Amino acid sequence: MPVSGCMDREALEATARALAAPGKGILAADESTPTMGKRLAQLGLPNEPGLRREFRETLFTAPGMEQHISGVILFDETLRQAASDGRGMAEILESQGVIPGIKVDGGAHPMDDAPGEKLTAGLNDLAERCAEYYELGARFDKWRAVITVGEGLPTSPCVQANADALADYARISQEAGLVPIVEPEVLMDGTHSIGRCYEVTECTLNRVFSALADRGVHLPGILLKPNMVISAIDAANCAGVDEVASETLRCLKATVPADVPGIMFLSGGQSEVEATAHLNTMNAQGGGPWELSFSYGRALQQSALQTWGGDAANCAAAQAVFVQRARLNGAARYGRYAAGMESEWTNR
Ligand code: 13P
Repeated sequence: MPVSGCMDREALEATARALAAPGKGILAADESTPTMGKRLAQLGLPNEPGLRREFRETLFTAPGMEQHISGVILFDETLRQAASDGRGMAEILESQGVIPGIKVDGGAHPMDDAPGEKLTAGLNDLAERCAEYYELGARFDKWRAVITVGEGLPTSPCVQANADALADYARISQEAGLVPIVEPEVLMDGTHSIGRCYEVTECTLNRVFSALADRGVHLPGILLKPNMVISAIDAANCAGVDEVASETLRCLKATVPADVPGIMFLSGGQSEVEATAHLNTMNAQGGGPWELSFSYGRALQQSALQTWGGDAANCAAAQAVFVQRARLNGAARYGRYAAGMESEWTNR
């Protein structure tokens, strides 16, 4: 149990390195209960704890997932749930050498005096919650800030307030023995160009790293989870894979210190194939001084969720779909993914 106010730098660095290990990435399975409800509603299913558990247990027990998945981010409910064999979810992951993590932010809420913008909540009791999560087996955590791009947005106070909250969270997490995943997400919603995404991402990351430095956060003991630099979903011109990869690398090299061990991208609304292709191209273009990896939610789960469909009889098929997606992203970690591999199945 870490001593409050102290920081075990070596333990944090070892966990961060393990999470960013070559060929592996993180599964973000930390959807809040309302968000999980939306996913289940797509399948015509009710938002019940048993169904949420069943889908997540299906993923966590998929044979071979540990070859490509280094850690899983859980939601509070899941960390406390028992699997069908009575073991805790964290125990199931640990038994396969997969590191359990936990979402600790309290969600993004409308920000005072900033119409259309949000600030992430959850700092008040964070130290106590981190201590409890460590006891429950978590070794890393996640805090997501959202930055909206639009007419006159984002505003400087919104970017700064979110950067400050991310830095406070990171410091508190490290003192509790948890590796913080620092996630400033510039949203893909809207019509903005890749150039505008670049500007906003660069400004946001600069503010975040300045705030982290101010708080004395130990950079070799964090992971960054950024958006890629990409055209908005409804942009008039959609940048291609090579441009997304090169602009993302250019932006990260301009803003992210080399002693951050890993950059674990979110998928943010990209399709499964796009998210894999973009990561692959960045690594094929030579990457950077950090590991370039994934911490995808939708882009790792979408097809598996459809295949499962709420029917226990489909669990094995859903597991195969999930492991295939993880394997392709594992290949993208080395720049070795090719579209033709989408139809090559080695695990069934
Ligand atoms: P997506 O990959 O679906 O964006 O989810 C990642 C995540 O953890 C968002 O906080």
